[in-house]
Amino acid sequence: MCGIVGYIGSKPAVDILLEGLTNLEYRGYDSAGIAVEVDNKVELYKAEGKLQNLKDIVNKNYTHIAKSTIGIGHIRWATHGVPNTVNAHPHSCNCGRVAVVHNGIIENYKELKAKLEKQGCTFRSQTDTETVAHLVASEYAKCGDLTEAVRLATKQIEGAYALCVIHQDVKDTIVATRRNAPLLVGIGEKEYYVASDVPAIIQYTKKAMYLDDNQIVTLTPDSMKLIDIENNSLEQKIEHLPWEPIALSKMGYKHFMLKEIHEQPDVVRNVLSGKLRAIDEPVCLKEVTLDREKLKKLNRIQIVACGTSLHAALVGKYIIEDFCGIAVDVEPSSEYIYRRTITDENTLVIGVSQSGETADTITAVRLAKKKGSHILIVTNRPDSTMAREADSLVPVNAGIEVSVAATKSYMAQLISFYLLAIYMAEVKESIAKEKLEELKHELIILPQKIEKVLSHKENIQACAKKFSGSKDFVFIARGINYPTALEGALKLKEISYINATGYPAGELKHGPIAMLDESMPVLSILMSGKVYEKILSNSEEAKARNARMIALTDSTDPKLNELFDSTIRVPEICELLSPALAVVPLQLLAYYIAEFLGKDVDQPRNLAKSVTVE
Ligand code: M6R
Repeated sequence: MCGIVGYIGSKPAVDILLEGLTNLEYRGYDSAGIAVEVDNKVELYKAEGKLQNLKDIVNKNYTHIAKSTIGIGHIRWATHGVPNTVNAHPHSCNCGRVAVVHNGIIENYKELKAKLEKQGCTFRSQTDTETVAHLVASEYAKCGDLTEAVRLATKQIEGAYALCVIHQDVKDTIVATRRNAPLLVGIGEKEYYVASDVPAIIQYTKKAMYLDDNQIVTLTPDSMKLIDIENNSLEQKIEHLPWEPIALSKMGYKHFMLKEIHEQPDVVRNVLSGKLRAIDEPVCLKEVTLDREKLKKLNRIQIVACGTSLHAALVGKYIIEDFCGIAVDVEPSSEYIYRRTITDENTLVIGVSQSGETADTITAVRLAKKKGSHILIVTNRPDSTMAREADSLVPVNAGIEVSVAATKSYMAQLISFYLLAIYMAEVKESIAKEKLEELKHELIILPQKIEKVLSHKENIQACAKKFSGSKDFVFIARGINYPTALEGALKLKEISYINATGYPAGELKHGPIAMLDESMPVLSILMSGKVYEKILSNSEEAKARNARMIALTDSTDPKLNELFDSTIRVPEICELLSPALAVVPLQLLAYYIAEFLGKDVDQPRNLAKSVTVE
């Protein structure tokens, strides 16, 4: 969601703040700002819109601002108050001595604001964050110590926050803290960095300390002190960040999304590596710590996730049920919470999340954990908040994904589900060895098939051009590819803003068919297998209503040319694995349509990469 950066050391802080914000821009970007200490004064620079607007303002005053070696910065994805300069962070108090940046939501900000107004505080913005600036200033006025002021302030705050605070009267000091929002400290030589995510600092240091909830860190150029909210000193756990700065380069591609789509063959190889060694060897998933006897007795699994991760979960349901005969429920995390959720110690609960920071999914798994369920987390970020909730942690190893539209992480999640389903089937001995070996073989050769799709993109580009003027799109499929239809539609909506919907093909005639006419493209996902003929019939029904028909298929049947206006072909693949191949052309189709329409592919409007509020 919002992004936070802080720096204290001997270099010009402004360069590090702007570079860090650039690398966090994918998290949210309706406004941005920095606070620096220059000539013993805290100065704020803020701008609405893209980060470039802030950079333009800073450049006009660069020589002056660059004198500062301490500062905090923020890019904002609005929650409270419209995106404008006043609501942009950092926020300050009446006298302007305090500057605060914040990620999260202060739930009791109205009560706090009323109390602070009575004490004489004047609020300028409509944000919840401004209360924190006034609160810290008010506590500092009483105790004269910035760490203590932040500590006392956080004791009064309800909700989620990652906060970075500086104070004009406390030279060369940054105080930072978190609760239910990520924050880490990067450690350099007589310098420290603070960030809400690794990309902001990875080019400067690989040594870092992750803050846990309710921890408060105080940084000066040559010291770092860590306490908890009760003022107890804590041990500092320094970690090595496993990321390379190169992950943040487009490597010659026009957009991160295109680069990440092309990385998928290697992502599949990475996820399989060390886990699927040979087709006649059992899958090795040491990460699953659930006792084998308990696993054998499991009779229910619940999977919670959001967005693209939810679609991967739906494929997961299909294969786990098929291989293991265990009932699997999949639910959007935001629906799982705030109702009477039936789960217990005999239920395995799987949370799926690229970022590991999605607030709805974190709340859902915490709820299940309280009820005694074993929590298995499938995430691309083993360093995330969600990962810390895991009893079993299955990292998906897709590498840093920068584009807001998830592509390679979806692929990695799918492959992780295949591995998990095979692993469980092998423990339970619930499926014939030959069937598993066939699937393992298909998994091993999948990267080559994806490479084939990626090297013949012309047809997809032509299709994108032909249909880029459409206002609406329908994607239909059945069975294991119904989630592929949902994912194809989501990708198109996210980056092109075209209204697109995925339907189970059999449902079309129960209502949606009323929308079809000559202006409506219908994309049928027609992969060989059990439901091929059924989808063909459903496609005939759509064609009879004059819809413009597109086929995505691994079939070479020439009859398809009569029914479909355009055909996107992929290599033949077994039905169970087909979602992992069929999604690739849909990612590309969405990408090229958005490109033709001139949309901001990597940073679509209104979206944020990780949604850290419920
Ligand atoms: O980080 P997560 O996987 O938990 O994120 C869930 C969704 O917010 C995410 O998948 C979103 O739908 C993406 N923008 C999809 O491209």
